[in-house]
Amino acid sequence: MRVVIIGSNGQLAQDLHPALQQNGHEVIGLTHAQIEVAELDSVRDALTPARADVVINTSAYHKVDVVEEDPDRAFAVNATGARNVAVACRELNAALVHLSTDYVFSGRKGSPYVEGDAVDPVNLYGVSKAAGEMAVRYLWPRHWIVRTSGLYGVAGSSGKGGNFVELMLRLAHEGKPIRVVNDQTLTPTSTRSLARQISSLIETGAHGTYHATCQGACTWYDFTIEIFAASGLKADLSTQTTAESGAEATRPAWSVLANAALQSIELDLMPNWQDALREYLREREMSRCTA
Ligand SMILES: NC(=O)c1ccc[n+]([C@@H]2O[C@H](COP(=O)([O-])OP(=O)(O)OC[C@H]3O[C@@H](n4cnc5c(N)ncnc54)[C@H](OP(=O)(O)O)[C@@H]3O)[C@@H](O)[C@H]2O)c1
Repeated sequence: MRVVIIGSNGQLAQDLHPALQQNGHEVIGLTHAQIEVAELDSVRDALTPARADVVINTSAYHKVDVVEEDPDRAFAVNATGARNVAVACRELNAALVHLSTDYVFSGRKGSPYVEGDAVDPVNLYGVSKAAGEMAVRYLWPRHWIVRTSGLYGVAGSSGKGGNFVELMLRLAHEGKPIRVVNDQTLTPTSTRSLARQISSLIETGAHGTYHATCQGACTWYDFTIEIFAASGLKADLSTQTTAESGAEATRPAWSVLANAALQSIELDLMPNWQDALREYLREREMSRCTA
């Protein structure tokens, strides 16, 4: 198939490219300079000549704290942008993969969220992503909405300026005291494992909403302990609460997603979060050696 990736400089997109090629797909990447999802004409102009069988929209505005003060850009990209891509895919009869987030949930359920649970976001970023999901669902049935969580990839998130693993490694090397929140539980997910999962999912005709995170769950603090253990690093690490961190936006306290829909079609390929982290650290080392 011909697969077009929107947001091709992003961290998920950078891992999607080889994963799709390995499965025999022809891949065309569109950078932000080549497509502006907030503008329907730009989306049409970029997607029409690409003649995609499948479009994967990885674009997002996801500076969660900034969005609380300045939500316009987030709604333009995450809601209107999602709508524009769905409209163009419908016009061009291209199937659509739309990326979404655990932040569409409040985190108050107390057990893993399944795909059919009602969305109830607790910050404006989550509201904008929930709106984007709804637009996609309403406009174009040939979609896979893929909700994921705590992404990290070797390319680093361009939207957030790096990723959590790299930030922790840098702080440890600088020898600074590190305080990490221990009251938000989620499943950190490597973009490499998610890319493999998406690459397999698009080969099914099973459209709908999917959760795709690594297996298991941890707090950001637990994740940090594992990062340092797997890297053989010692650091001055202690916990803090979300309230102490001073973050502008509320975050879900327990946003673990069950990959229930993937399991129902016997296609849950996601590894344990610890295994995915170790794979990431190995891949990171290799990319530094060859750089
Ligand atoms: N990162 C996470 O922890 C996380 C967690 C859950 C879900 N997700 C979702 O997963 C998806 C991929 O995340 P990611 O971490 O790979 O993001 P990323 O690294 O920030 O990549 C997003 C890409 O989209 C591009 N982009 C941004 N605004 C655009 C616009 N208006 N039009 C066209 N392109 C635009 C960016 O280009 P520029 O940088 O040049 O603007 C960037 O290349 C997003 O939908 C996100 O909401 C992410």
